[in-house]
Amino acid sequence: MDFETFDARGYRTVDVRTGYGEWVADYENTVEDVMDLALLERLVEPRWSAVSRAADLGCGTGRTGQWLREHGVEHIDGVDVTPEMLDLARRRGAHERLEEADAAATGLPSGAYDLVICSLIDEHLEDLRPLYAEAHRLAAPGAAFVLVTFHPHFIMTSGMPTHYTNAEGEPVAIATNVHLISDHVAAGLGAGWRLAELHENVVDDTWLKIKPKWERFRNHPFSAAYTWREDS
Ligand SMILES: C[S@@+](CC[C@H](N)C(=O)[O-])C[C@H]1O[C@@H](n2cnc3c(N)ncnc32)[C@H](O)[C@@H]1O
Repeated sequence: MDFETFDARGYRTVDVRTGYGEWVADYENTVEDVMDLALLERLVEPRWSAVSRAADLGCGTGRTGQWLREHGVEHIDGVDVTPEMLDLARRRGAHERLEEADAAATGLPSGAYDLVICSLIDEHLEDLRPLYAEAHRLAAPGAAFVLVTFHPHFIMTSGMPTHYTNAEGEPVAIATNVHLISDHVAAGLGAGWRLAELHENVVDDTWLKIKPKWERFRNHPFSAAYTWREDS
């Protein structure tokens, strides 16, 4: 769904590579663990320490990869379309292999991963189906696909795109799309996944300590985490 009809900010919009290529300098200071890593902590599946090899799609600076390493995942490959984000991931060293590639066409080996993970990127994709299909291609039998996403309700109700402040102090939006929960379910089931778990994260006291201006969003769902399973 096109974000434009919900846009309450009217920021100038740039494409993903341009946006993250500029945001990279400040990205780690602005992204909050409560958006995504806190949700990973809540998942019952998969058992992280039992994962032998993971594919991290849209790995960015390696935050997700580092979290996985800290939770016992030893072998992680990552892809991202933004070279500047990959440079930071290389310096961080959580991944074994890092490639500049689209999350929906990674070039990574088929059936090689017992975990595929994709955190906070899908709002940049116009269509979810190629992402779910690529994750399924990468999955070994019985693998999990964990996807963390901004909640569609929050994007709609806040009218806020994914955005950053550039070196000139201008707020800039990165091309954003809205995917309903039913879009995820249709794409996941259509690609051959079974939904094993779904958690929603609401704006609560923890959030409001970080962003007191968000009081008006108290109790609104902000992000969500899905665990999908490959059954064969
Ligand atoms: C908000 S960051 C998330 C990075 C990391 N997963 C994390 O949790 O910090 C979004 C990342 O997705 C990447 N990205 C966006 N669209 C992509 C695509 N189609 N294929 C691969 N990477 C993509 C961007 O370059 C950026 O590094």
